Amino acid sequence: MPHQNRLLCPETGESYSPDEPRWCSDSGGLLQLSFKPELDISRLAHRKETLWRYRNALPIDRDENIISFDEGFTPLLPISIAGRTVYVKQDHLFPTGSFKDRGAAVLISKAKELGIKRVVQDSSGNAGCAIAAYCARAGISCDIYVPQSTSPAKLAQIRGYGAALHRVLGSRQDAADAALEAAQKHYYASHCYNPYFHHGVKTVAYEICEQLGWRAPDAVVLPVGNGSLFLGAFIGFTELYQMGLIEKMPNLIGVQSRACAPLVTAFEQRSKDLSSVVVGETIAEGIAISAPIRGREILQAVRETNGKMLAVEEEVIRKAQIEMGRCGFYIEATAAVAVAGVEAYTRDANRHERLVTVFTGHGLKGT
Ligand SMILES: Cc1ncc(COP(=O)(O)O)c(C=O)c1O
Repeated sequence: MPHQNRLLCPETGESYSPDEPRWCSDSGGLLQLSFKPELDISRLAHRKETLWRYRNALPIDRDENIISFDEGFTPLLPISIAGRTVYVKQDHLFPTGSFKDRGAAVLISKAKELGIKRVVQDSSGNAGCAIAAYCARAGISCDIYVPQSTSPAKLAQIRGYGAALHRVLGSRQDAADAALEAAQKHYYASHCYNPYFHHGVKTVAYEICEQLGWRAPDAVVLPVGNGSLFLGAFIGFTELYQMGLIEKMPNLIGVQSRACAPLVTAFEQRSKDLSSVVVGETIAEGIAISAPIRGREILQAVRETNGKMLAVEEEVIRKAQIEMGRCGFYIEATAAVAVAGVEAYTRDANRHERLVTVFTGHGLKGT
């Protein structure tokens, strides 16, 4: 059932057919997908517990193009954090061990729909694992660019899926630059540029609201690097609100490591744009992003949802990771940023708020 989609560049007003294999505008601008989701919640009861239960809210035209491992509908468990009950989405339990599978499922399904045979992508590791796995299932070749510092477990996983792995000397930005150059020739399956990725990640919001009985949380605390989770959640909650399925938008709370906190700095300066910041080392490798390209959009989503950006210290992240392990949850350091963020957020928050966060990556990744 075809949807009336368009790829739009909000800066210039350029618009393109979704049948074109493009990931940026002619002038290099960031694209958004204009798309009208549909969801009849009375028909959900008998659907499989995967993210594809929201089929008419996902921008893939034909079912035969869907590339899936029956992923999604991860548990939403109440866990005690900082003396409060917090609902935690168990997205470390995805097939490749991180929430990035949400985005990869939809993006690689779209790539198949477009007839694409080869993609390139850059990543701190987890998005690379997800794209590599879904490409393997789709029979699409892929080249993944990662910084030299990426965890050995993630490198082994990307290789295991048969992707061509390129370790780039230098920073995460150097890996992005190498992928951008390769993207002159091949489709860029980027979790930062490509809007189909965000339209997969948005299912986290759909699942949370369904699991809460079609109620919105009061606040959602999320780790932020390039913002694919944050923006995906924003799109998802916005669509549900616009369809009248939830009564309000939650406040979206972004968390970064103090060592690499460009969005926190901009938020504290009440700036609409990022300025360059000095960044240091962090154990949260998944969010060590000094200049997120969708920074302006992330800051706008924070403002629109009456949210916040918070910074947490390295030792607090490590402590949160250890504490979660002692409760039986083995998560990677980047995922523990959300737990540290909940602790920081709840210091000033109303005790009765319905609070949600996400375990974004599995602990086995960090070795
Ligand atoms: C485990 C984990 N959590 C959170 C994030 C943050 O995602 P994003 O960079 O899209 O904000 C990442 C990104 O790689 C990650 O690997």
